[in-house]
Amino acid sequence: MPTPDAAEFDRWYDVLERSPQWRRFVGEQLGLPEQMFATGFLSGEGLAEIQSLLSLRLDDTLVELGCGRGGYGLSLIGGVGARLVGVDFSSVALRGAEADAVAYGLADRTTFQLGDLTTTGLPDESASAVVCVDAIQFAASVPDALTESLRILRPSGQLVITTWQASTPADGVPERIRRLDLAHDFAVAGFDNVEVLTRPAWSATERRLWTAALDLDPGEDDALDALRDEAADLLPLADSLHRVVAIGRRPGNPWPSVARSFRLNERSGSWGAAGLPAHIPRVVPRAGDSL
Ligand SMILES: C[S@@+](CC[C@H](N)C(=O)[O-])C[C@H]1O[C@@H](n2cnc3c(N)ncnc32)[C@H](O)[C@@H]1O
Repeated sequence: MPTPDAAEFDRWYDVLERSPQWRRFVGEQLGLPEQMFATGFLSGEGLAEIQSLLSLRLDDTLVELGCGRGGYGLSLIGGVGARLVGVDFSSVALRGAEADAVAYGLADRTTFQLGDLTTTGLPDESASAVVCVDAIQFAASVPDALTESLRILRPSGQLVITTWQASTPADGVPERIRRLDLAHDFAVAGFDNVEVLTRPAWSATERRLWTAALDLDPGEDDALDALRDEAADLLPLADSLHRVVAIGRRPGNPWPSVARSFRLNERSGSWGAAGLPAHIPRVVPRAGDSL
């Protein structure tokens, strides 16, 4: 199953635009706020957990990578007074996200711009927090996307990702999910306080959605038709996929410049990286639910 490119996502969003039924069905099944346009499958419960993890404050800047129609990001900044910068490679999705921001009265606090998960085009240290809902698996290189997230985060800023990881290499689990090892990739990218946690309750909600989707009568609705097909493909894999949330923090102290590191080492009479801080990522399992 090849990873879809921007043109394929544009076509998908065009189909979804014509189906208010798809939006209503998915929103109701996931328990999302009314009118919210989600194209990931994170439940209302999951959204509330992300909200609490991010703890956004007035004037914080949240960057949402792979924001699609921006539903999660808009909801996360809505009551807080934070700003949102949404990045996606689908111009069709971004047009819709901009329209929703206007409809919700959030246009003056939001920017949606074209960019890739690995090359956002955003300035260094411009984000108080970065969130990525059900999109990281599409990155051409997940490690590069994590490095890019670290670059745009302010010191001590947090990256929160939701996705799926494979519990078994079952036939049918897409390669883009099988290759995910977020605990490893967050650590290698340089994140601190890394946690990758399974979320069985989110999986259960999703399983109910797929089960209900099998009973849909799509009629002429291409979006509902595609959802029913997806349900038929994914339900048999439900036990092979873990819903996960991955969290990492950019180390708190600004990186010392290479020149300063070398000066420190010169003084001690040796060359090398002895002046660089040793950020050893910690993978902290929580009892009972970690991968
Ligand atoms: C399943 S949708 C999730 C969208 C949104 N996060 C949500 O949950 O409503 C995945 C999104 O990732 C975007 N995407 C996929 N690959 C991308 C890439 N390489 N760069 C930027 N966006 C990408 C798609 O256009 C799509 O909007």
